[in-house]
Amino acid sequence: MAGLDVKALLDSRDDDDLERWAKTINPQFVRVLRTIGFDRTWARAEGAYLWDGDGNRYLDMLGGFGMYNVGRNNPRIRAALIEALELDTPGMLAMGVTALPGLLAEALLARTPPRLERCLFTNSGTEAVEAALKLGRAATKRTRVLSADHGFHGLTLGSLSASGDAAFTARFGPLLPGFERVPFGDLAALESELRREDVALFIVEPIQGKGLNLPPAGYLEGAQALCRKYGSLFCVDEVQTGFGRTGTMFAFEHWGLEPDLVPVAKSLSGGYVPVGALLMSRKVHEAVFDSMEHAVSHGSTFAPNELGMVAGLATLKELDDEQLVERSARLGTRLLELTQPLVEEYEVVHEVRGLGLMWAIEFGEPRSGRIAWKVIEKAQPGLFAQLVVAPLFSEHRIRSQVAGHKLAVIKVLPPLVITEDDIDEFGGEMRATIEQAQKMPRSLTKFALTAAGIR
Ligand SMILES: Cc1ncc(COP(=O)(O)O)c(C=O)c1O
Repeated sequence: MAGLDVKALLDSRDDDDLERWAKTINPQFVRVLRTIGFDRTWARAEGAYLWDGDGNRYLDMLGGFGMYNVGRNNPRIRAALIEALELDTPGMLAMGVTALPGLLAEALLARTPPRLERCLFTNSGTEAVEAALKLGRAATKRTRVLSADHGFHGLTLGSLSASGDAAFTARFGPLLPGFERVPFGDLAALESELRREDVALFIVEPIQGKGLNLPPAGYLEGAQALCRKYGSLFCVDEVQTGFGRTGTMFAFEHWGLEPDLVPVAKSLSGGYVPVGALLMSRKVHEAVFDSMEHAVSHGSTFAPNELGMVAGLATLKELDDEQLVERSARLGTRLLELTQPLVEEYEVVHEVRGLGLMWAIEFGEPRSGRIAWKVIEKAQPGLFAQLVVAPLFSEHRIRSQVAGHKLAVIKVLPPLVITEDDIDEFGGEMRATIEQAQKMPRSLTKFALTAAGIR
């Protein structure tokens, strides 16, 4: 008997993907897509592009929230996965070990500072963060966890407890006890908490993904020094910034950091197979896994899974072979050069910032004060950004995203395989869309109010 014929299944469906999603998965999400005009059906993807059901090509500056560093449907990652499937590898042994996890752990640790010597695999970013929280507590025999305001570390309850954004945490409390936040960039506030010498770890994104906030000069180095001084672990969350996103393999390299704990995930997957890892110092690992009795103190049925390991190994090779990390640095510089003049050109553009191919543009009230801006932003803070994201998509076929709840910031995390022409196109279309949005024609204002649920 033949197995599942995927193509026949896809070809035979005659109804609407969006309708089925709304009926079986999440109707509110489909409402959002319809409101902002993102309600396409998608047929195909390659590299930095997606094609809709009508054959239109879109430039994907959203990059699956930063999981497609090696590009969508990368043929070399796919070939490695197919080869692994055809090898009939032993799979997950439970009581036993196989070759691939050790090889990926070795490859990851070869790319990080010597302080990081052990790797614990997970299936996602939030699980890697959960591991950091649990192991950090056990290793230090302390319970408090510090994180930064506006930080984001995932949506399971532990990670959420370290989140600094009420939009994610409200309604899901009580969160875990012992979690507190300090302002991002404020070393004095951090020290006043660490000084109590009861903090297990300080977890921080090197560049905050929500809003795309870059650390002030000296902040991360200072935070690391304070953690060392007061016996707390320094955890740098590289789930979003890792694997070349910011123009170095890991963002912490920009500041010469040597963290004790580093959660990674997203792009390690090659865009194909969910996989994450917590990279940690030997000291942390040995403090938790300190006896045979504690040999399986933390883990998960599917981690490490063979296909995830192959995806990770193939991704690291692809980043090296195609020099994607250097490419991210080079194209990121070009993107900034192209877009920073927008600050001078348009009053509504307050800042353009980024590092490598992690880029954002922030809008603010024009100095000359426009009534329309006030109306829009009063309806819902951050709505102006949606006035740019929506036409950028529907008219210019470029996918981007608003950088967080109620933020007038647009962010992009394109696949690192993007071309110089794509970057130039993005810069040009962004300019054209801002030009149009800042005039705030009535149609756009109406759209904005609908999007805010006001009409
Ligand atoms: C910095 C950071 N940490 C953790 C996570 C959670 O990762 P995941 O969505 O794989 O659970 C994310 C996801 O966006 C992230 O950006």
